[in-house]
Amino acid sequence: MSVTVHVPLGDRAYDIRIGAGLLAQAGDLIAPHLARPRVAIVTDTIVGAKHLAALERACSGAGIATVSKTLPAGEATKSWAHLQEVVEWLISEKIERNDTVIAFGGGVIGDLVGFAAAILRRGVRFVQMPTSLLAQVDSSVGGKTAINSLSGKNLIGAFYQPKLVLADVSVLETLASRDFLAGYGEVVKYGLLGNAGFFEWLEENGPALAAGDVEKRIEAVRVSCQMKADIVARDETEQGDRALLNLGHTFCHALEAATGYSDRLLHGEGVAIGCALAFETSSRLGLCSQEDPSRVRAHLKAMGMKTDLADIPGDLPSAAELVALMGQDKKVIEGRLRFIMARGIGAAFVTEDVDPDVVTKVLEDGLASR
Ligand code: GLY
Repeated sequence: MSVTVHVPLGDRAYDIRIGAGLLAQAGDLIAPHLARPRVAIVTDTIVGAKHLAALERACSGAGIATVSKTLPAGEATKSWAHLQEVVEWLISEKIERNDTVIAFGGGVIGDLVGFAAAILRRGVRFVQMPTSLLAQVDSSVGGKTAINSLSGKNLIGAFYQPKLVLADVSVLETLASRDFLAGYGEVVKYGLLGNAGFFEWLEENGPALAAGDVEKRIEAVRVSCQMKADIVARDETEQGDRALLNLGHTFCHALEAATGYSDRLLHGEGVAIGCALAFETSSRLGLCSQEDPSRVRAHLKAMGMKTDLADIPGDLPSAAELVALMGQDKKVIEGRLRFIMARGIGAAFVTEDVDPDVVTKVLEDGLASR
């Protein structure tokens, strides 16, 4: 069973194929996109150990030769050093402009390999095969590619669209529950930002899809990708609406910086807590009802997810220091921080008009309950 979401971007348009068992069919699905039957696969140690042999088998079954490279797993891989390693390896493997590179892994591999593809020979073709829920619903779609600078995450990158995205929900079965739920933070974000009906569907079906229901997983990934495709088609390079996808992220980035981008807080966990904080702030600003933040928190809690600042282990800086960390966000324009606030569930909007004292108070109250 599989479904397709189309990303309509003119001559850069592509399909996102979502289904169960796509890894075994990958060779046949990728073959129509190849100029010659040869691909370079880049993966990480964890995904490689579990799934690389299956992908290589699927390619050779379709008559496609493969070369592959395995990088260390983890955020530290999104570095200049590993970018250079990948690009030099692709050059040594004589990957030409019409050849295809497959990014086979989670968000780190997708971002790094996408950026390598963007700059190698001024752009070679690439296919995203995301293996984490977070990558399937967010980072593999929409063409944001990047590595980290010493000064911050994702500061060096390019918008560069893949030729195809293959999201096999079967590979999610081997994800640790914590990683799955972190990715689910991004799924919830889509309902909260623009689709109240989807949020309601998640309230009803979230526990079943977390428990492994394949059809519900496909549906959750489909709706998330369709929403992202619609937004990216309207605003590919984030001049306006695309910023909606950053709901919860201004809070999240401050919390990630405060916890040293460590295992204390995964990105998707920070997004979930950030969404709860964004709704709390919206309610205090009189933008949405008081019931909305309670409903957001109730769903996250029902899913067993981190919901509040109190759920982050270890010390956190003061509210004022967290607000200062928000000031380092990429979304700051001429010194003004842009927030994504909400007029209700499914009704987010971008604004620069948020009183920092209200944000500070929301954070103070959250810290006081720890
Ligand atoms: N992850 C946010 C975006 O792709 O715009």
